[in-house]
Amino acid sequence: MKDVKKLTAEQAADELQRLAVEIAEHDARYHGDDAPTISDADYDALRKRNTAIENQFPDLVRTDSPNLAVGSAVQSKFEKITHPVPMLSLDNAFSDEDVAEFVERLRRFLKWPADQSLALTAEPKIDGLSLALRYERGELVSAATRGDGAVGENVTGNARTISDIPKVLRGKDIPDVVEVRGEVYLGKEDFLALNQRMEAEGKPTYVNPRNTAAGSLRQLDTRITARRPLKFFAYAWGDMSAVPRGSQWEMVALFEQWGFKINPLMGLFDDVNQLIAQYRLIEAQRASLDYDIDGVVYKVDQLALQQRLGFVSRSPRWAIAHKFPAETATTVLTDIEIQVGRTGALSPVARLEPVTVGGVVVSNATLHNEDYIAGIGSDGAPIREGRDLRIGDTVQVYRAGDVIPKILDVDLSKRPAESKAFVFPEQCPACGSAAVRDVNETSGKVDSVRRCTGGFICPTQAVEGIKHFVSRNAFDIDGLGEKQAEAFYNWGLVMNPADIFTLRERDARSLTRLENRDGFGKLSASNLFDAIDDRRSIDLHRFIFALGIRHVGEGNGKLLARYYQTIETLLKAMDNSSEFTGDAWDELVNIDGIGAAAARAVVGFFADANSRSVVDALLEQVSPIPAEQASSDSPVAGKTVVFTGSLEQMSRDEAKAMAERLGAKVSGSVSGKTDLVVAGPGAGSKLKKATGLGVDVIDEEGWFDLVGR
Ligand code: IVH
Repeated sequence: MKDVKKLTAEQAADELQRLAVEIAEHDARYHGDDAPTISDADYDALRKRNTAIENQFPDLVRTDSPNLAVGSAVQSKFEKITHPVPMLSLDNAFSDEDVAEFVERLRRFLKWPADQSLALTAEPKIDGLSLALRYERGELVSAATRGDGAVGENVTGNARTISDIPKVLRGKDIPDVVEVRGEVYLGKEDFLALNQRMEAEGKPTYVNPRNTAAGSLRQLDTRITARRPLKFFAYAWGDMSAVPRGSQWEMVALFEQWGFKINPLMGLFDDVNQLIAQYRLIEAQRASLDYDIDGVVYKVDQLALQQRLGFVSRSPRWAIAHKFPAETATTVLTDIEIQVGRTGALSPVARLEPVTVGGVVVSNATLHNEDYIAGIGSDGAPIREGRDLRIGDTVQVYRAGDVIPKILDVDLSKRPAESKAFVFPEQCPACGSAAVRDVNETSGKVDSVRRCTGGFICPTQAVEGIKHFVSRNAFDIDGLGEKQAEAFYNWGLVMNPADIFTLRERDARSLTRLENRDGFGKLSASNLFDAIDDRRSIDLHRFIFALGIRHVGEGNGKLLARYYQTIETLLKAMDNSSEFTGDAWDELVNIDGIGAAAARAVVGFFADANSRSVVDALLEQVSPIPAEQASSDSPVAGKTVVFTGSLEQMSRDEAKAMAERLGAKVSGSVSGKTDLVVAGPGAGSKLKKATGLGVDVIDEEGWFDLVGR
């Protein structure tokens, strides 16, 4: 097995996917009726490797990660519960000003007199997971996770194992139906103790208390949940047959009487300054609290006012979460790796000496792009006062909530003497093709992203390219969607679009026939081959679009097809444009609707040996159907027209669009191929050349006489 440190992002992603499936299968065998099929030690090894890869590539942690235990396999085992009252989220405030604004908004909305105080509660925002507990006639009947806010999972059995959760409510004023909401969490000390135990047993350790709490609550085996010392704070409610108190404060106090734990740092306040003071107080205690918190929640106290304020989309207007600033830590930048994305974008990733930031071990951070490394912001202005980042540098890392860690600053006093500025590769690390930064023709600005020009030959881009090639508006092959495209690539059957068309022939000679592979049978394989054959002739514009050239969507595909009509003409024009100058290039950039960026991209694509070889291979299998002339009965259809001099009744752009609509080609220069020159006042050298060559010349009026208005 490959050393985790040596995995590329792509390999890591692949392995994490495989491990998620494999571990889920073992879990199902273990927890279901079937006997487990591997030893505990082997199972632990799988989990350990999964965790190691996740630690190395935190951005790649899957939503169905075995460590989060929220996998679809597990998920499907829980019954769904529809929340009678949706479980909403909270808006965020990041500064004191945001909070002042929030209170101002409340006052404006309520037309609350300036001299009258507006009571709000303040309490810690617990970093756990929310749970809705339903009681009927005082008895716990169900517990549901938040889920997507509308539908959650029934985790009643597990909730019953949590000692903070009363099974029966005591005290008075208990309505028939009560739904108390709050946060399930795992204490920091309990988390550390659990991890020490795991480590001692040679088992993989958990990432942070929150994820552990989530995983523990969603265990299929209630006995496992019971062994985790989960805790619960009550702070809100949902469906109630009656609401027995008139304020937030009194309701929470009542919850305590019923037997719930409530947060001791909750307070009731009159104005913004008091709220901020409570925020500072809670922030100061944060490190010494036994549970993770990520901010302070303010809520309008009076329930009648809450009702008037209501909701905006998915959060209440009457509450806000004042988040703590992102946590930072200092560590060493050990390496800068370049990952290749779907569109060929080269993304630099910082490898860091592992450091704990906000309770999570961070060993990677995003570096955005090469300018960011050099200390230049997206607006061209220096960031970090122009200080660049170098391998070996001591850097300050920050992480806000679940956001991917970032590098905030560099400590130049700790820079090693021998360090060198980072040289961003100009070749794609995945395939070796040139990696370039586009220049925006109109703004003249250089794109911040460097991209691999390898197209289909680049493995990362290849899979996505094949998916695009078979997509609905491209080749649209029945039975060959994204899933199959990916599987075919992984099986080594289709490495580029041309391979699709030799699949039948190669399959016939193959030891592992398609019909015997996962997801296929005799009929589906044979249907697929027929569907592929159906596409051996295809409209030229679909063919062009399918190639996935940057800036060439369906619209530009059609423009190019209509202009060049046949693939042969198109290829010849591209060959003659490869230097980005000359008649062919002029013609291309002159096509109405084709921008400079698209023109460059098309020429670049066909000039690239790799993409060209795929196109050539494709053309041995597929015949693009020539585009129809836009308007074959027009007198200028198929003619090459040049407009020169000034036009009076239409703009040059409009003239060009009109000519092209009528099936003419519009060129910027006069040559032997020119059929017609439309010359207005002030026409100079082009008119002269046309006369010299004996080309027909008419004026604007003549043009309208010819084509009509
Ligand atoms: S009140 C209508 N109070 O934060 C909003 N939520 O971003 C009801 N949370 O899903 C939520 N501590 O899981 C509230 N003291 C607190 C909280 C709290 C943590 C979580 C809760 C909710 C999320 C909203």
